Amino acid sequence: MPLVPMRQVLDEAAKGGYGVGAFNVNNLEQIQAIMDAARATKSPVIIQASRGARKYANDIFLYHLMVAAAEIYPEIPVVLHLDHGNSPETCKSAIDMGFTSVMMDGSLMPDGKTPSTFEYNVKTTREVVEMAHAKGVTVEGEIGCLGGIEDGHGAGLDGLSHLTDPAQAEEFVKLTGVDALAIAIGTSHGAYKFTSKPTGETLKMDRLIEIHKRLPKTHLVMHGSSSVPKELQDIINQYGGKLKPTWGVPLEEIQKGIRNGVRKINVDTDSRLAITGAIRKVFMEKPEEFDPRSYLKPARDAMQQVVTARMTAFGQAGHASEYAALSLAEMTKRYASAKN
Ligand code: G3H
Ligand code: 13P
Ligand code: ZN
Repeated sequence: MPLVPMRQVLDEAAKGGYGVGAFNVNNLEQIQAIMDAARATKSPVIIQASRGARKYANDIFLYHLMVAAAEIYPEIPVVLHLDHGNSPETCKSAIDMGFTSVMMDGSLMPDGKTPSTFEYNVKTTREVVEMAHAKGVTVEGEIGCLGGIEDGHGAGLDGLSHLTDPAQAEEFVKLTGVDALAIAIGTSHGAYKFTSKPTGETLKMDRLIEIHKRLPKTHLVMHGSSSVPKELQDIINQYGGKLKPTWGVPLEEIQKGIRNGVRKINVDTDSRLAITGAIRKVFMEKPEEFDPRSYLKPARDAMQQVVTARMTAFGQAGHASEYAALSLAEMTKRYASAKN
């Protein structure tokens, strides 16, 4: 099956009432781990690359690895998505490369750090929607800024002002025409999300539910959604790592999100933890080994296990064979006719 537009995968997920994991990749082994997990669970899947990943792997390597994945796993609908595009130019280069979906993260300025204004976000995201939809490519936007509530992220004194404002989210979707919307409800990227198991005070699921009520047809996206399981932390620490105690997003909260309009769930850190734990174990237990395959294979297997578990928990398992890929040309026509 050719690479599919993300809009199709999310529309199908909405019909079926399930979520789809969007897993970050930087190399061959991560792509193999995800595709093997998708085959084992019969799951449609979103594979995403950040700007850092594109720089690390080189766009051409990355794209051709994904074309190989589509060829080797023809029964799996697979999306190639740009994670956190920082400007229309970055999104354009991904579209030109063959990505079937892009995120324009206009919640931040192009430095990827400074919060932007609503007007800037609308303008840049709208520009990307025009450009991407003309080629059948899906667009994810973001409103509100990711970041924890405990650490008082954002400018506000209450630690909440960086979260998504539901009324603004509604306005944003109307003004931009995005296919999917990333919202900020207190999650953050990386391993250190919460200092104890999150509660309704630190992970604002009520905010998500309110946004879904206002935007029942919009596919919501949860970033920073690794669960950071204690077992994976323990393996790393058991084999010489130094992770501080930390909590991620519990799977049952993600499942609650899925019941309330979340269709795309971004996971990177859990894969990183699984890979690192497996490599540390080989290095400690078999210090005589120096063939990279001796540690890259267990690393790939460990990532496959975690991705398999997420695909099962998100409900995407078993849905791979329910639809045939739409081409980008077909999507272009659909966007054009929806406009008229
Ligand atoms: O956006 C966060 C993802 O985990 C990607 O991280 O920018 O280090 O590749 P990265
Ligand atoms: P995690 O760091 O929780 O895996 O989040 C990844 C993410 O949101 C990528 O955009
Ligand atoms: Zn993210």
